[in-house]
Amino acid sequence: MRILSGIQPSGVLHIGNYFGMMRPAIALQAEGEALYFIADYHALTSVRDPEALRTNSRRVALDFLACGLDPERATLLFNYPVLMAADILIYDSDVVPVGKDQKQHIEMTRDLAVKINETFGQIFRLPEARIQPATETVPGIDGQKMSKSYGNNIDIFSDEKETRKRVMSIVTDSTPVEAPKDPERSTIVQLYSLFASKDELANMKEQFKKGGTGYGDFKKELFEKLWGYFATMRQRREEILRDKSYIDDVLTKGAKRANEIADQVMHRVRKAVGLR
Ligand code: ADP
Ligand code: TRP
Repeated sequence: MRILSGIQPSGVLHIGNYFGMMRPAIALQAEGEALYFIADYHALTSVRDPEALRTNSRRVALDFLACGLDPERATLLFNYPVLMAADILIYDSDVVPVGKDQKQHIEMTRDLAVKINETFGQIFRLPEARIQPATETVPGIDGQKMSKSYGNNIDIFSDEKETRKRVMSIVTDSTPVEAPKDPERSTIVQLYSLFASKDELANMKEQFKKGGTGYGDFKKELFEKLWGYFATMRQRREEILRDKSYIDDVLTKGAKRANEIADQVMHRVRKAVGLR
């Protein structure tokens, strides 16, 4: 099975990216051949500063490696074709781990592939989206979908002070401390559920319903869990940063492997449609 996904270097990776795409992608590297890439051409629509694009691209690679991407098992790509459908089809991908917002793009990719296969015979493998039901959409600090472009993100690798500040600024209603609170629609509870055990989650929901605890205290609990969750990844990130050539080596090797696959598929495509 071939697994493929991409992430745009349009900003700094946040916990929505982590639970929506990175964590499932990292888990899938044990199940087949994984190709993960930095969607730098896609990011050209929003990033117009060449230096920023370069810096962000290396930073995405760093953060992904720190979170557990294993370059021995997964190929980390660089420089890839323009459209998402092309990215997916040119690597004969079977499975595409992405967040829910990307689902329609993969459906479009399948439609294109089916159409071409009907016309020219079986050229393209049909990819399937793999979307994590439990973490479909991670909310940001304002309760909307977390996104780099909404400014409501909690980043994976911000420093402690900044992370705490972001968590403490999660928007809540004005229910007084002593009053019971509704855990079901709370952004704090939704984020907490990503990091806490079943019992811890049940306990927080209980405290919400009971009243007597203010939102500030719940946020502190959330911060502690979130901060602890990424501790080993922060450590790994520091290690990677100490090895000056590591990221570039990973990206160069990844691009070579990816190009080999793409060449094979393009050969098949050209032959089938009568080019060359
Ligand atoms: P952003 O919206 O921050 O610009 P991207 O569009 O670069 O994020 O998304 C990269 C990957 O992370 C995609 O697979 C996307 O579905 C996933 N993703 C982004 N935000 C979230 C979120 N809030 N919840 C779940 N998955 C997300
Ligand atoms: N469009 C995706 C995003 O905005 C990134 C992406 C580009 C991608 N090409 C891809 C994801 C191919 C999966 C497969 O997040």
